[in-house]
Order: sequence, then structure tokens, then C-alpha cells
Amino acid sequence: MYKNIFDSHAHYTDKAFNDDRRNMLGSLKESGICGVINCGADLESSKEALKLSEEYDYIYFACGIHPEEVEKLPENYLDILRELAQHEKCVAIGEIGLDYYWRQDTKEKQKEVFEKQLLLAEELNLPIIVHDREAHGDTLEILKKHKPQGVLHCFSGSVEMAKEVLKLGMYIGFGGALTFKNARKAIEVAEMLPPNRLLLETDCPYMAPVPMRGKRNDSSLIPFVAEKMGEITGLNPQEVLNIATENTKRLFNV
Ligand code: NI
Repeated sequence: MYKNIFDSHAHYTDKAFNDDRRNMLGSLKESGICGVINCGADLESSKEALKLSEEYDYIYFACGIHPEEVEKLPENYLDILRELAQHEKCVAIGEIGLDYYWRQDTKEKQKEVFEKQLLLAEELNLPIIVHDREAHGDTLEILKKHKPQGVLHCFSGSVEMAKEVLKLGMYIGFGGALTFKNARKAIEVAEMLPPNRLLLETDCPYMAPVPMRGKRNDSSLIPFVAEKMGEITGLNPQEVLNIATENTKRLFNV
């Protein structure tokens, strides 16, 4: 039985949890979960994440606009985010970033919204939670320009990119994808990653680790990722969990 598990990236506001959200969130502590950061993807889910953080002592939140949600934003979206971010349980601006896998057509708008939120995080002195899918070059260029505190979640870049990210002082988040058959690149990054830069996450309801791949994910499945990380690094899985939790608390100041 594992303990001291901190899920640094979850989406418990997702409709996949509509039928049993309260039961799920009420039971996670019994599975050894000590903390969860719920990430917003748009204004609505950011507000929902704020509400959940008020109901559960171990739940924190991040507010932000996901790159797939950059269209149809109200003009004052930054003001709304700024206000949400004043909440005592808001620990980051996220998730924000670039996604050229799903959306090639909104690249310029994605970059604009990403940078504006980076500036907001800087103004509020908050770390960021970055989503980068098939957009490594532009993501790195923007990060190098702003040098934020934060994490690249569900890291899918190369070892070379990871080195650049580490040079910036940022963290790297791993979740279920590390356990997938095609995870060769992620495993190479995990091998070279200094332990003090590792975060663990679910990105639930998505990305459930093997052997639960394809099912609904939740924070109680993080030990499968910690076990994989243990195999790669030679560390004991509980030690991996302890280190990642310590890192998460340090980065997000909780
Ligand atoms: Ni996410």
C-alpha cells in the first residue's frame, strides 16, 4: 500500500466524473493521495476547479486556457483569470501551452494566448503548467524568452529538449504515458532526469497507465507510474512517490 501520493495534474471537473465525483474525491485519501492539483482548461472548468478546491482540503487548482480552447474567448479573459488566481488555493496558471497535433489552424492565436498567460503568471508570481503536443520548437522558444517557473506536463519531447527545460529550472511531469509500449523517448528522458525535477500526474480522466490503459484514470493509479519510474531509475516506488511529492510541494508552494 503506497502513501504520500501527490497528483500534480488532474481534471476532476471533467464530465467523465459526473456520476461519482463526490464518492471518488471522498475516497482518494484512503488510497494514499495527499494532494491533487486540478487544472482548468477554459474559464468554466477553472471556476469549477476553484469550487472543488473549497470543498476538499487536499485539492488545489490551477486556472488557465488550454491551447485547444483559445477561440471564442471573451475579451476580458485575462481579468477573469487574474481574479480566479487570487484565490488562496490557486497554485498555478494552467494548463496553458501549444497543441499543433489537434489544432494546426489556430497556431498564431495559441501563441498569443500562451504568452499573455505567461505574463499573467509572471505578474502574479505563480508557476505555470505547460501543455506541449507536437509543438516542441515554438514551446521552447517561448519558454526561453520568458523563463517561467513551472512544469512541462506529460512530457513528450526528446532528451535534448528535456535538457533545455532543465536548464531553465523547470520540472518535467510524467503520467500514464510512461508505461505505454511506445514510451521509448519518455523512458530515455526519465533515465536522465535528476530526481529533484520529477513530478507525477494523471491528467485524469485520460492517460490511465498500463494495466488500466484505456479505462478512466484517477489519482489512485499513480503508483503504476511510480513503479515504472522505479524500474527505470532503480529507486523504490515509494521513494519515487516521496520525491515527486516533495518536488510538487516545492514548485507550487503548498
Ligand atoms: Ni491536462
